[in-house]
Amino acid sequence: METNQHVLDQLVTYIRDNTTHLADSELRVPVSNFIDDDHAARERALMRTKPLVVAHHSELPDAGGFITRDVLGSPLLIVRQRDGSVHTSLNVCRHRGGRVEQAESGKKRAFTCQYHGWTYDRDGSLTHIPYSQFFEPLDRLCHGLFAVHTEERHGFIWVTLEPGENPISVADFLGAEVESRLSQFNYENSLLVLDKEFTLPVNWKLVVDGAVDSLHPKFLHPTGVGRLIATNTCVVDDLGLHMQSFTPRVKLETKVQAGEENIEGFYRHVGSAVFLFPNVNAAITPDHVEFWTTWPSLTTAGECTIRIRFLADPDTYDERMAERLRRSWEILEEAATKEDWPMEETIQTNSLAVADSTYLYGRNEAAPQHLHRVLDAELAAQAATAGAGR
Ligand code: FES
Ligand SMILES: [Fe+2]
Repeated sequence: METNQHVLDQLVTYIRDNTTHLADSELRVPVSNFIDDDHAARERALMRTKPLVVAHHSELPDAGGFITRDVLGSPLLIVRQRDGSVHTSLNVCRHRGGRVEQAESGKKRAFTCQYHGWTYDRDGSLTHIPYSQFFEPLDRLCHGLFAVHTEERHGFIWVTLEPGENPISVADFLGAEVESRLSQFNYENSLLVLDKEFTLPVNWKLVVDGAVDSLHPKFLHPTGVGRLIATNTCVVDDLGLHMQSFTPRVKLETKVQAGEENIEGFYRHVGSAVFLFPNVNAAITPDHVEFWTTWPSLTTAGECTIRIRFLADPDTYDERMAERLRRSWEILEEAATKEDWPMEETIQTNSLAVADSTYLYGRNEAAPQHLHRVLDAELAAQAATAGAGR
């Protein structure tokens, strides 16, 4: 693949020259962006206007399969339809607001609110009102569950909570280049082989920063990941809102430093991470993807929930692969729970002591800079639109 050869050549050059991809300038980010609840509320409002990954296709295997999920304050009822499409409703009864479906997941023909029995079809349309003769005649078509803009793409269910008048498709949101890069892995048919959730007392952006930070492995993970992944060498591809970064494995670094010319096998030598705005980090390998979504808390800037999914290619998944992925999870879990997240927790606590200050992202930290640059631009655009609408 052309991109891969280009990336490999660039990484080899960086290793030889002892340098890395450089941003145009340093970046200073106000500490308040990590601790200010009003800022966090503006970020959540922005996220509600973007397509967000809320589920993997396998969570809704057949018609009537459903999950309920709270996403940024919206209770969702996500249901696979008879024609294979996915419909999302707000899980809020049109009678007087009861949660229509209480279970986290299952399979149903219809959904009946427990409070007074109003019943809705899989697509949210209202089908039955007990004692309806005591209500004024009611247009049932206008009293279905509120629909939420939903699309299934790349094997994920995406929702846009507040799409505005012209909802953007996921393909347009990602753009042709990201679409083409994602098509290199079998996402549509991917197997969900691991699915875990963690809630941390940390601002969500610190987690996203950590996932693309190539300046820390040998310092924070000296005996683990730091022995596998090189430090301070990275190719960063700016893909608009999104980004892909590539980091050499130590194995590649060692070969180049030893003067080896023939480097065969891209993924044996390079780790890659895709960032999809606003909250997806995916570590890409040829046989599996470690797919993170990081969600800000609804109540405080200082908390987030991370969902980690491992996706495998069904064409190559077997017992040996399962064992390899178990090992990958052990390495990741060790680094994340014992090193990355405790460090991020100290940053969150420390931030309160230097609230009026800034944090610094060097020119060699183009990947972590990316989130803050695009997020700030999007927040500014949102504020401008809100101002124009007043
Ligand atoms: S609130 Fe749902 S039926 Fe009354
Ligand atoms: Fe780390």
